[in-house]
Amino acid sequence: FSEELEIVDNKMGEVQGVPLPEATCEIWEQIYNFQAREDDILISTYPKAGTTWMQEILDLIVQGGDVEKSMRAPGFVKVPFLEMGHTCKYRHSPLAEDMELPRILKTHLPVQLLPPSFWEQDCKVIYVARNAKDSMVSYYHFQRMNRGLPDPGDWSTYFSTFLAGDVTWGSWFDHVLGWWEAKDQHQVLYIFYEDMMENTRREIEKVMRFLGKELSEEVLEDIYHHTTFQAMRENPMANYSSIPSFVMDHSVSPFMRKGVVGDWRNHFTVAQDEIFEKEYWRRMEGTNLTFRTQQ
Ligand code: A3P
Repeated sequence: FSEELEIVDNKMGEVQGVPLPEATCEIWEQIYNFQAREDDILISTYPKAGTTWMQEILDLIVQGGDVEKSMRAPGFVKVPFLEMGHTCKYRHSPLAEDMELPRILKTHLPVQLLPPSFWEQDCKVIYVARNAKDSMVSYYHFQRMNRGLPDPGDWSTYFSTFLAGDVTWGSWFDHVLGWWEAKDQHQVLYIFYEDMMENTRREIEKVMRFLGKELSEEVLEDIYHHTTFQAMRENPMANYSSIPSFVMDHSVSPFMRKGVVGDWRNHFTVAQDEIFEKEYWRRMEGTNLTFRTQQ
């Protein structure tokens, strides 16, 4: 599929104050007017929350646990990226409108920028959230290896950039809080990466029930085994190895990097942690949304 990719540069633009890839901003009207269908399933995340993991789980649930079928194409083809689909000329781009139903779509858009047709059609959304510290670390390494995103600079520079929300798709705080509120008005299942790490089977079942599916214990077990970190790291359809190395350079940092809770401890200095905690509690004051930063 590599020849299907049109390489975009790493310039950023802005939509309503939210930094987004320039290629997205250029056709924003078209993206915002995207026509969702009632059986579309949307996976929404702030970058690095475990999107690829959940996308693999969702596809398997929809395919009734058929592992062979789940290997039909790379994740970024099976689950088109709503606001970046046009950067991949593959015919399954959501803007091409010719996918088999039900479609599973992916977005990183903050809730206020979601195309309204998803709400109008009352689509089911699975939102995956990951604690801010690990998200920051994971995003830092991702920006190092992904030429489609700005160079993150050194860790201390990135620490300030991320905390200020000056990264692509905007502030982690705005994102997790906005979608947390949305779950009270819409069909949004809010899942935590830390819960998936703690008990993957339990979270897979939660998603299955939310989608109104009934799968046997055996099938659920197959889904679990096919979506472990180890299995996905070795799966060329899940590990992004089919993207050319001049776009994603896995030798700088592999896409399937560590897959743990608490790696922030290997990056944050004591001083950074203090600054972070202060800002965190200022931004999270008054919400009942809570995160775990260790397992
Ligand atoms: P790390 O960089 O901390 O390792 P996204 O898909 O949203 O870009 O998220 C990528 C992050 O999820 C990476 O985190 C990646 O390793 C982790 N991840 C992907 N698949 C996983 C799995 N099956 N189990 C645990 N973590 C996984």
